[in-house]
Amino acid sequence: MNPDDVLGKAPLFSALDRESAAALRTGISEVELHKGQTLFSEGETGDRLYVVLDGKIKLIRTAADGRENLLSVLGPGEMFGELSLFDPRPRTASAIALTDVRLAGLGHDDLRPWLTGRPEVALHLLRALAQRLRRTNDVMADLVFTDVPGRVGKALLDLADRFGQRTEEGVRVHHDLTQEELAQYVGASRETVNKALADFAQRGWLRIEAKAVVIMDAERLAARSR
Ligand code: CMP
Repeated sequence: MNPDDVLGKAPLFSALDRESAAALRTGISEVELHKGQTLFSEGETGDRLYVVLDGKIKLIRTAADGRENLLSVLGPGEMFGELSLFDPRPRTASAIALTDVRLAGLGHDDLRPWLTGRPEVALHLLRALAQRLRRTNDVMADLVFTDVPGRVGKALLDLADRFGQRTEEGVRVHHDLTQEELAQYVGASRETVNKALADFAQRGWLRIEAKAVVIMDAERLAARSR
């Protein structure tokens, strides 16, 4: 997708007519990061919101003992860094490039007049926030009610929805996560996650590749993840 289309489909811009979208775009600055570079860290003061144009960003929180929880993986068109816009307090998570990544950044101060002057912009951002809260509730419920293989299955199906490519064999999901990161994503140990993946592979539901899987039987994987 070309970067203009990516931005046009982001919640912020899809609410606007061409002229207004072009006006809002004048405030944007592009940022490029190499894989592994940190954009911002949890606890810092934040004054910008970002839309991913190309590549993937991961959002993580770190416990006092150094363990990491991977909150989300975001790809083209997805937005982050808006919590400190609505609630001006420190960043709630760190943003790190999972691959080489290109981002569009927009200052909170530039954005505020649009929120008050154009209710449709505010509504689109609120919808994006509501979707995030729904997802967070689902993740919390899964941590309580669903076992690790179920959580791994759900995470892979969610990643397949967003990053999957249909191939003859099935849906190829190039998630770019190491097994350690996948474990941080589902809140389990790497060993348990590896065991679940090996079991799925042995049943013929998926094939494991480096930082990717090919899902061959999404139906059975979904049934196991319920
Ligand atoms: P902010 O707090 O400004 O910076 C970190 C960003 O991570 C935050 O805004 C949100 O955009 C994003 N974020 C925080 N928590 C979650 C979550 N649970 N799921 C997805 N994104 C999140």
